[in-house]
Amino acid sequence: MSDFQPFYDVNLSYEDNYRKGPFGAFADALRTNAGNGGDAGTEMPAASFLGIPVNLPFGIPAGPLLNERFTTAAFRMGFDLAVYKTVRSRAWGCNPFPNVLAVHPKSADGSLTPGSPELDEGVLADTNYELPISISNSFGVPSRDPDEWQPDMCRAIEAAGEGQLLVPSFQGSRVAGMDEAAYIADHVTTARLVTETGAQLMEMNTSCPNEGHNRLLCHDPALVGRITEAVKNEIGDLPLVVKLAYIPDDAALETMVRATAARGTVQGFSTINTISARLVDADGNQALPGAGRDRSGVCGNAIRGAGLDMVARLAAIRERLGLDFAIVGVGGVIEPEHYAAYRAAGADAVMSATGAMWDATLARRIARQAAER
Ligand SMILES: Cc1cc2nc3c(=O)[nH]c(=O)nc-3n(C[C@H](O)[C@H](O)[C@H](O)COP(=O)(O)O)c2cc1C
Repeated sequence: MSDFQPFYDVNLSYEDNYRKGPFGAFADALRTNAGNGGDAGTEMPAASFLGIPVNLPFGIPAGPLLNERFTTAAFRMGFDLAVYKTVRSRAWGCNPFPNVLAVHPKSADGSLTPGSPELDEGVLADTNYELPISISNSFGVPSRDPDEWQPDMCRAIEAAGEGQLLVPSFQGSRVAGMDEAAYIADHVTTARLVTETGAQLMEMNTSCPNEGHNRLLCHDPALVGRITEAVKNEIGDLPLVVKLAYIPDDAALETMVRATAARGTVQGFSTINTISARLVDADGNQALPGAGRDRSGVCGNAIRGAGLDMVARLAAIRERLGLDFAIVGVGGVIEPEHYAAYRAAGADAVMSATGAMWDATLARRIARQAAER
């Protein structure tokens, strides 16, 4: 892969990526104005997502699209859904470099199953990036100050072509001394800041492993219920999507749905986020430097089975409860057939972070295959 460059350069810091990226084919798309918003031509968008017309319900989830230049390049490369990396109510620092490592699970197909002992015993992580690609990302959900991200997000929204949709992602920030009411208020404030950019919908992240050591907001459905109620009161008719991690237990997943979508406060779920694993180098030592980084989230090829399983179980709950929330299938989409597999499992839209980073043509390949069907 010597001449290939992912649009997020894993050999550079987050800061350098933010200032100089995107790279590779995404940089070319910006320079040449290529693509011009997918291949829609003069036809009407063929699909819709949460009632908003889109050409192909496929895109890039929260994370690798750091700012407007990244999201605009994604649109030009035919990713019709582009999620703007998770923002906060305040500036927030990034974990130290490196933030990405290649991950090599032991199984023949490179998969990692939730609950597998390998996740605690240690998974090899290094800088040897191989296809089919699995990586770990460890950023700590950095954010620019709203004074910087709000105008940038406005530009990102305006750059969407016909049948393309910019999806802002946000999360609350837990800081020392904050009680629950203040934590909920921080979500509401951030959601309001997002509405001020002209967003047509938004995604709330409850699934980042970096939110306290292995503590995820989505493990507390009652609190997610209280937060989404407050956020929905703020944003009114704008659809609210909640980003979930893999939840192994059906009863817990149903509790989440009942606390949110069943009450009308949430219109969709995006899932999954990364799967937490202990990362080790070839000598068995901690792979990522620094305290609290013995474990990190794995994404890409390794987690596709878990993503498909989660989407299928969520779709079954939707059916059983007679609800109509949208499902965004995420995790390990690297080839066009993975898009089809997620749609068959019940996803209304599909997104790829790692797969898209390593193949800037993925959306075009999926669109071609979808057109042939
Ligand atoms: C570089 C990178 C940064 C990410 N940052 C975020 C983030 O800020 N917010 C979020 O909700 N998910 C984040 N994610 C998780 C992705 O949205 C996605 O859930 C996960 O990577 C699984 O998809 P994949 O297998 O296609 O990579 C990030 C992923 C990557 C690769």
